[in-house]
Amino acid sequence: MGQPHDLSDSAFLKAVRGEPVPHIPVWFMRQAGRSLPEYLAVREGTNMLESCMNAELVTEITLQPVRRYGVDAAIFFSDIVLPLKAVGVDLDIKPGVGPVVARPVRTVADVEAIPDLTPDHVPFITEAVRTLTGELAGMNGGTPLIGFAGAPFTVASYLVEGGPSKEHAKTKALMFGAPDVWDALMRKIAGISAAFLEVQVAAGASAIQLFDSWAGALTPGDYERHVMPHSASVLERVGALGVPRIHFGVGTTNLLTLMGEAGADVVGVDWRTPLPTAIPMVGDRAVQGNLDPTLVFAPTDVMTARAAEIIEAGRAAKGHVFNLGHGVIPTTDPDQLARLTEFVQSYPLR
Ligand code: CP3
Repeated sequence: MGQPHDLSDSAFLKAVRGEPVPHIPVWFMRQAGRSLPEYLAVREGTNMLESCMNAELVTEITLQPVRRYGVDAAIFFSDIVLPLKAVGVDLDIKPGVGPVVARPVRTVADVEAIPDLTPDHVPFITEAVRTLTGELAGMNGGTPLIGFAGAPFTVASYLVEGGPSKEHAKTKALMFGAPDVWDALMRKIAGISAAFLEVQVAAGASAIQLFDSWAGALTPGDYERHVMPHSASVLERVGALGVPRIHFGVGTTNLLTLMGEAGADVVGVDWRTPLPTAIPMVGDRAVQGNLDPTLVFAPTDVMTARAAEIIEAGRAAKGHVFNLGHGVIPTTDPDQLARLTEFVQSYPLR
C-alpha cells in the first residue's frame, strides 16, 4: 500500500474506527473553495477544470483550509466530473452553474464511447496526492487526506441531464425505462469512480468519501434496486485497499441504512436528519455531520450551541466526525468557520 505516513493515531482516523479520540475531529465539505480569499486569489485566471488538472494548484488549494483552520482532515481539491473530463468526455464546469456536458448520454453506444479510466489519464492526481500527503504529514501533528469520487447515480445525473437539475427527470426516466442503458451507464461510471479512488489511495490518501449528493431523489426501493449495487461495487473495490470509506448524500433520511450497507465505514448525514434519528439507522458504523451550513451565518453563540447539541448526540454513535450537513456556502465568513473548528476541537470529551 502506498501509505508512507502512519496517521492512524490521528483524531479523524480514530473516530472513523470508533476508537477513543484525543478531541472531536472536524473538517468541512467544500472547505477548499470559494469561501476563501486565498482560493479566489490563486484561482484568478484559471478555470475550474484546468485548476483540477494542475498538480501545483491542487496541492496549494487543498492545503489552504488546513493552514487556516487546522481542520482534522484535508479533502482533495478536484470535482466529481474531473475523471470524465480526464477520459475525454466533452464537459465544462460553468461558474455559478456547475458541470455542463456537451452531448448527454442516451444510448448504450453513448455509454460505450466513454473510455474506462486508467492511472495514465490522471498523472496530475498521483503527483498532487504524493506531494500533499508528504506536506500534510507535517501539519498539525499529521493530517490525513480524504480522496473522493462521485457515486454512479450523482455522476449519471450530470451525464444524462447534460447539466445540473432539480428533478433528475431524464436520469430517472432512463433508470425506469431503459434498464440496459442504465445498467451499462452505472457500470461504466462505477468503474471510473473506483479507478479514480484507487489512484488517490495508491498515491497516499488515508480515507475516501463517495459523494452521492443527489441520491435523495430516490425511494429506498429504487435506490436498492437500481443504484446501490453499483455504489457497493465502488466501495468494495476501495475497501480492498484497506482505507476507510465515507458515504454521503443529501436528503437521504430514508436511505441511511442502505447507504451504510452499501459498504461504508462512516455514513455522512445531511443537516435535515437529526443524529439521534440517523445513528440507529447506520448500525455499527460511525457518522459524519451534520450542522446546517446556514448556521454559520447566525451569531457565533447560536452556531456553537447547535454544534454542541450535535456533538452530544454524536456520542451515541460508534464514532463521530464533525462536519456540516452539506458543503460550505461560498459567502461563508471564514472567521466563523475558524471559531467553529476551535469550538469543536476544544469541546470536552465524555
Ligand atoms: O473542498 C472540497 O470539498 C473539495 C472540492 C470539491 C469540489 N467539488 C470543488 C468545486 C468537491 C468534494 C466537489 C464535489 C462535487 N462536485 C459534488 C459533490 C459534493 C456536493 O456538494 O454535493 C458535486 C455535486 C459536484 C458538481 C459541482 N461542481 C457543482 C454542483 C458545482 C458548483 C457550481 C457552482 O458554481 O455553484 C461544482 C463546481 C465546483 N466544484 C467548485 C468547486 C470549488 C466551484 C468552482 C469555482 O470556483 O468556480
